[in-house]
Amino acid sequence: HTDPADYVREAIRSVPDWPKPGVTFRDITPVLQDPRAFRVLIDIFVYRYMRHRLDLVAGIDARGFILGAVLAYELNLGFVPVRKKGKLPFRTVAEEYTLEYGNAAVEMHTDSVRPGQRVLLIDDLIATGGTMVAASKLLQRLGANVIEAAAIIELPYLGGSTALRDTGLPLYTVCSFN
Ligand code: PRP
Ligand code: HPA
Repeated sequence: HTDPADYVREAIRSVPDWPKPGVTFRDITPVLQDPRAFRVLIDIFVYRYMRHRLDLVAGIDARGFILGAVLAYELNLGFVPVRKKGKLPFRTVAEEYTLEYGNAAVEMHTDSVRPGQRVLLIDDLIATGGTMVAASKLLQRLGANVIEAAAIIELPYLGGSTALRDTGLPLYTVCSFN
């Protein structure tokens, strides 16, 4: 009788003061560990995206790989990784973004998307939005038609979900924590 999104939300573990005091970490490992919650989660995405005529799913390093790969398989689509810099062996393009302290970059293989392909971008969580915005820019530089960004969780108080939607890219999330 529970709403599927509520079922997933209730399976997420909140860890106080991690990775530092004052931060509550939203941990999705219990969702993946529980076969019912995992299936409910993936089915939410499957039913949402089965009619989007997607060509490809792009998942963000590292938790976006778990979701993206399973979803791509279920939708009969290919999967491509958006990786932390320095991990991919072939020709790459990178997009930098700023963190609280310093910079980071995401990277993709130059041949991972063909121009015009309809791509879904997926990760577990959107916080400041830096990672998701950089990944969508990278995909667009490769000529992808990024149809939507998806995540399990958004943290609206950090502004990332609003910032991403302000770029014009639709964002779908299963639940949010304030
Ligand atoms: C986390 C999370 C997202 C990103 C969200 O990954 O899985 O990818 O941060 O933060 P943002 O919206 O502020 O960019 P993390 O960098 O911890 O990497 P990991 O998945 O390898 O642990
Ligand atoms: N959970 C998982 N990843 C994150 C979080 C969180 O609460 N905040 C920033 N990245």
